[in-house]
Amino acid sequence: MGIPDRLAERMSMAEQHEWLTAQRPSRRTLFRAGAFGAGTLLAGPSLLSSAASATASAPPAGPTLVTTNATANGASVAPFARHLAFGADPRRQIRIGWQVPVPVDKPFIRIGTHPSDLSGRIPAEVRPLHSVVAGAAGPVDQYYLHVAVDGLRPDTTYYYGVGHQGYEPATASGAISTVHTAPRRGRWDAEPFTFTAFGDQGVSAHALANDGVVARQNPVFHLLLGDIAYADPSGQGKPVSSTGANGTDIYDPSVWDSYLGQIEAVASRVPWMVATGNHDMEALYSPDGYGGQIARWNFPGNGPRTCPSVYSFIYGNVGVISLDANDVSNEIPANRGYSNGSQTAWLKSRLEFLRRQPDVDFVVVFFHHCAYSTTNAHASEGGVRAEWVPLFDTYRVDLVLNGHNHIYERTDPLRGGRPGKAVPIGGTVHPDTDGTTYLAVGGGGRSLYNFPAADSYAGNVNDVAPITSYSWTGVGVKTPEVVAWSRVRYTGYSFVAVDVRPARPGRPATLTVRAIAESGTELDRVTLVRTAGLCTVGSRGVSGTRADFDAA
Ligand SMILES: [Fe+2]
Ligand SMILES: [Fe+2]
Repeated sequence: MGIPDRLAERMSMAEQHEWLTAQRPSRRTLFRAGAFGAGTLLAGPSLLSSAASATASAPPAGPTLVTTNATANGASVAPFARHLAFGADPRRQIRIGWQVPVPVDKPFIRIGTHPSDLSGRIPAEVRPLHSVVAGAAGPVDQYYLHVAVDGLRPDTTYYYGVGHQGYEPATASGAISTVHTAPRRGRWDAEPFTFTAFGDQGVSAHALANDGVVARQNPVFHLLLGDIAYADPSGQGKPVSSTGANGTDIYDPSVWDSYLGQIEAVASRVPWMVATGNHDMEALYSPDGYGGQIARWNFPGNGPRTCPSVYSFIYGNVGVISLDANDVSNEIPANRGYSNGSQTAWLKSRLEFLRRQPDVDFVVVFFHHCAYSTTNAHASEGGVRAEWVPLFDTYRVDLVLNGHNHIYERTDPLRGGRPGKAVPIGGTVHPDTDGTTYLAVGGGGRSLYNFPAADSYAGNVNDVAPITSYSWTGVGVKTPEVVAWSRVRYTGYSFVAVDVRPARPGRPATLTVRAIAESGTELDRVTLVRTAGLCTVGSRGVSGTRADFDAA
C-alpha cells in the first residue's frame, strides 16, 4: 500500500513520510518517542521487546523501534560488516560500526595499541531497523551496532575487535583489525599521504574489484560520493514498495547487508566517509529519508543539526567538507530545500574557518550531484551551481568530488563557470589563480553511462570542444549549454587516488589526483599546487620549529 501516484507527484520526502506513518499511528508514536533517529544510546538489545508480535499483522510500510525479548546464543552469532569512520577530530576520534544478524546480549568492542593488550569491554549502541515493504514476503530486521571512541593518540595504529556475550574477538580467528589516527596538524615534517574516492558503488563484481584496487593505494581514508548500496534502485525519493508499482520507489533493505559485507575488507581498516546521494533517500524510516543512514553510519556530527551527512574534518594539511546535494537538486527534488538554507549558511562559515587555518593548504568538498559533467544521463545540476559554486569561487576551493554520473570526468579549473586554462593529463593547476577542479567519479561499480563526445583519457586523448550538454536550471527544466571545460572523459569503472605532499623548505604543498580504472590502469593525472600555508617552512619564518595546531 503506497501513496497514490497523483499525491506522490506533489509531495516532498517529509510529506510522503508523514502520509505513510499516518496510516500507522501506533508505530509513528513509537518512532517519534523512540531512540535511533535521535542517536540516543540504548543500553543494549536487552532493552528491546518482541518484533515478532509487533509485525504479526503488520501494515505494509513504516518505521518502528525493533523490539524483542529474546537474544540468540551469542556463541552461535558472528559479527559482520565492520566499517570505520572518523569523528570530527580524526586525530583522536574513531567510530566503529558493525552488524549482527540477530539480537545479541551486551555487544562491545575492545581496542588498544597492541593486539595482545586490548582494553576492557566498551559497550555498543544499538540502532535497529525494522521494515515491512509493501509486497515483500516479510519483515526485515537489521541490527547495527556502534561505538564512538574518543581520546586516542594522533598518528597511532590501534587494534580493535567487536564482540558480544558469547563471542570474544580476542580469541576468535581473524577478528582483530586495525585503524590509524590522523597525524598532528601543522607539523613541518608531516608525511605524505593518500586518500581515495568514488561514488555510485552498489553491489557487483565491479564494485568489489574497485575495493581491491582502492585497498592497494593504502588510503588513510576513503570518500564515498553518494548512491551507496542501491537498496532503492529507483532513486527518486518516493515512497517505497518491493515492486515500484503505483509510482513508488523499489526498495529492498537486505541489499544493505550485502553492501556492508562487500566493503568490510577495506572499511574495517580504512575510515569510510560517506555523503548522501539520491538513491540514499529512503522514505521508510524518517521524514527526511535519512533514518536508515543514521542507523548504518557514524557521521562526525559537526554540520547543521538537520543534515546528518553534512560534516567536515581536517586531515593533515587538507580540510574536507561533505555536503548533501539532495537539498539543492533541481533534477530530483524530493528533499529540495529541506535544510531551509542552513546547509549553505554552514558551508560558508566552514569555508571561512578552513581558510583561516594557517596549516590547511587544500580544501576538498565532496557531494553527490555534479556541478559540471557532460554525460547523457544526468549532466550538470544547476541547483549546485546556483547555491554553492559562488562559495567555492569565493573561498578558492581546490577540488570538488562528485558522483551521480557513472563515469570519470575532469574539468579544466573553473571560476564563475569559465575555464581558467586548459590542463592536459599530467598538467599542473594553481587553484588560487586558475580556479576549482571538478571531478565526476561515479564509476564505483553500479552501472555505466555515456558521453555525447568521445572518451579522452591517458593513451586515448581526444580533445573535443565545444560539447553540447545541459544543466538542470529549474525543477524539471533542462537548459542546453555548449561547454569547453570537459578535459578528461572515461566510460568505465574507476576511482581516484589523491596523493598529498605537505610543503617542505623551498617546495610548495602539492595534491596530485590520479584517476584509476578498476584494472589498476592510470587514466588521468593532475597536480594542484599551493604555495601558501604555514607548512611552507621558511617562508613565514617558522623554519626549524614544530608548529602544532592540536588545540585547533
Ligand atoms: Fe548513481
Ligand atoms: Fe545519483
